[in-house]
Formats: sequence, C-alpha cells, structure tokens
Amino acid sequence: MPSHQTILIVSILTPVLLYMLITRFTTSTSSKSPQVPSHDSGRRPAFRQRLVAVGDLHGDIDNARKVLRMAKIIDTDSRWIGETDILVQTGDIVDRGAHANEIYRMMQSLRGQAAGVGGKVVSILGNHEIMNAIGDWRYVTKDDIKAFGGTKQRQADLSSEGWLGQEWLANYSVTALVPLSPHPSSPTLSFTHGSLRPSYSHLTPYPSAINALGHSLLTKALTPPLAPPYPPNPYSGLPKGSTHDEAELYAEGGPLWWRGLADRGEDQVCPWAEELKGKIGARRIIGGHTPNFEKIVARCNASVIIIDTGISSAYGGVLSALEIVYTLTPLDVPKHDGHRQDPLMVSNNVTITGEELRGRYLEREEVHAIYEKRRKWIALEEREITL
Ligand SMILES: *[C@@H]1O[C@H](CO)[C@@H](O)[C@H](O)[C@H]1NC(C)=O
Ligand SMILES: *[C@@H]1O[C@H](CO)[C@@H](O)[C@H](O)[C@H]1NC(C)=O
Ligand SMILES: *[C@@H]1O[C@H](CO)[C@@H](O)[C@H](O)[C@H]1NC(C)=O
Repeated sequence: MPSHQTILIVSILTPVLLYMLITRFTTSTSSKSPQVPSHDSGRRPAFRQRLVAVGDLHGDIDNARKVLRMAKIIDTDSRWIGETDILVQTGDIVDRGAHANEIYRMMQSLRGQAAGVGGKVVSILGNHEIMNAIGDWRYVTKDDIKAFGGTKQRQADLSSEGWLGQEWLANYSVTALVPLSPHPSSPTLSFTHGSLRPSYSHLTPYPSAINALGHSLLTKALTPPLAPPYPPNPYSGLPKGSTHDEAELYAEGGPLWWRGLADRGEDQVCPWAEELKGKIGARRIIGGHTPNFEKIVARCNASVIIIDTGISSAYGGVLSALEIVYTLTPLDVPKHDGHRQDPLMVSNNVTITGEELRGRYLEREEVHAIYEKRRKWIALEEREITL
C-alpha cells in the first residue's frame, strides 16, 4: 500500500510531468525567460553547434588568451580545445597594444588546428587592419613596431608578399554570414566590425558584395610598395587606383567604421535591424568597434549584439566572449531508416551534411555572454521546425 508520502509525491509530480509532456510538443519562441528549462525529453540533440565570438583585442595577447581560455576555446598552452566550435573574431586585433603580431600568429595557428578537428576560425577585418594596410599608423605603438622587427620588416610582413598580408588576403574578410547548421535552411549570423547600414549601397548580395570590395581594396593596399607610414610621413589616403565603391566601403558610413547600430536609440535601431535581417537573411547582426566597458550589449531582442567590451588593457574594459549554442533535437523517430534505431544521433565531433538532417526538430538557440567570473543570459529561442 502506498504511503502518504508516496501519494503526496505522485500528486505533486503528475501535473509537473504532464506540463513537461505538453510543453514538449508545443512550439515556443521565447526570448524572455532564462529560467525556462530545456524541453528535456531525455533525447539528445541530433546536432549541436557552439559558436564563440570575441570583439576588439587591440594588441593585448594576454587578455586575448584569457578570453579564449575563459570561453574554453584554448587550453593553458594556447592549443585549440574547441573541437567543432566556431570562433569568430570581429577585427581590430592591431593598434593601441604591443602584441598584435602574436595575436595574429595565434589566430593563424588556431585556424589550422580547428580545421583539423572540424572546427573553424572566422576572422573579420576591422578599420584598424585596413588603416595599417594603407599606411595610417597613427595608433601603432613603438613596441608593436619592435615586435615586428622594425618598420621595414613590419611593412614587409604586412605586404602581399609577407606572412601577415597573405593571411589577411586569404583568411580575413570584411564580413561573414555564418550558418549555425549545415542544413541549407539554417539560420545564419552576420558578423562585421562596425555596423551594417541598411542604406549602404553594397549591402547585397550579402556578404559577397562587401567582401569583394574589401578584398580588392586590401589587394591594392598590400601590393608593394606599401604607402609610407603616417606618421612621420604625410597621410597618403586610399591606394592609387582605388575605386569609388572601395572608398565608400572604407568611408564613415561603411561596415568598417559606422556605429549606427551601437550608438543610436532603439527606436531607430530596431526598425533598421528588421530591415537588415530581411535584406541579408541573418537572424542576428553581431559586431564590435563601439566599446561598452562593462558588458556585451544586446539590442532589439538580441537581433543586434555589440561585443566590443574594451578587452585590451589599452582600454581596461571587461574580458568577454559571446557564446551561442545551437541544437536540433529530433521530435519524431525518423522514418527513413528501418534498421537503425536512431540514425540522426551524432556526437559533437562528427561532421554531418545538411541532407542528413531531415524530420521534425526542436530548434534551440541559447545566447550567453561569458565574463571572467560569471555567465550572463542574453537570449533563448526555441521553435519547432521541419527540415
Ligand atoms: C589560411 O588558413 C588556412 C587554414 O585554414 C591555412 O592552411 C593557410 O595557410 C592560411 N593562409 C595563409 C596565407 O596564411
Ligand atoms: C521583443 O520580443 C517581444 C516578445 O517576443 C515583443 O513583444 C517585442 O515587441 C520585441 N521587441 C522588439 C523591439 O522587437
Ligand atoms: C569523437 O570523440 C570521441 C570521444 O570524445 C572519440 O572517441 C572519437 O574518436 C571522436 N571521433 C572523431 C571522428 O574525432
């Protein structure tokens, strides 16, 4: 005979379990309550992608390493431990601090290590990368020049014949549209250094129009002889032969310099964000460039996220990283395979193709800011989708 305690426990648990069962099968898109528990059906996600994004690093190798360790992307020896994670750095590695050289080397090394285990490093060019390319060295420190081995060597390294110039040309872009899963209909995230402006002339096709201009401008700037550094030489402006469109890319209203999504009121920014999302097909628009020294700033329900927190000791802001965890958890037992129990179950380190994701899923996207001593919830979105 059941005891009173058992009856009590059962009468408490039954509605809870019923509630869990019901919510398990209802679509919900929630970006409100961080306390919402996972719709835990005991099923494991069929697909999981973690993405970490870090903002302006400005020559501070120690803080750059700290941030990547904090986000579990590297270990204490600065080796990639992010497995299949995607790391995005939104530009401005150089200037203000003394160790840009080492940060670029670290990123280059991590790119290779990540690729070897199915992870990825996505590198964005900031206005300071382009400034250095065109000879605007106003924010270059003496120690930075020393670390490169002097002005001549720094120019040689930056040129299209040097290791850094080649790395920029091959592996850096002004913008990136990063899908969260390999499925063709996957949601995507947009990354640029500054703000995208809805009326910017070369927004679409996105991101190819912007990246083509960035690449051609960078190629012109890095083809020897490089512009003599200003100071002490006079500012030479954009490289000879730059087009009107390239000048517009680098202008105040372009994606390298504009701050509109960070410094205007939400009454302006939220309609802009909706317009941008429609035009470029991204779920979130993420950038750096405009620091908030206390926190990562999410605006308009995290449609816009500004991740520059002045990480470099040149600024003395907080160490931060943005983390997005995207999962797809099957809602049906897949029909297409009779003899395998659960053909969609793959572990985090197995690469799968978009075609392998078919059926009904609970799509979940958790967005957090990671700081030295705490994590802060930014957004949680869940919806039922059919792939
Ligand atoms: C670009 O990155 C890849 C690794 O993903 C690396 O093999 C290649 O050497 C890099 N290119 C340059 C020019 O550094
Ligand atoms: C944010 O989301 C809430 C609820 O999902 C909605 O009511 C609100 O209008 C949204 N705000 C903006 C600025 O999009
Ligand atoms: C995936 O990870 C597991 C354990 O973490 C390991 O045993 C396995 O070899 C890995 N598979 C691949 C393809 O890397």
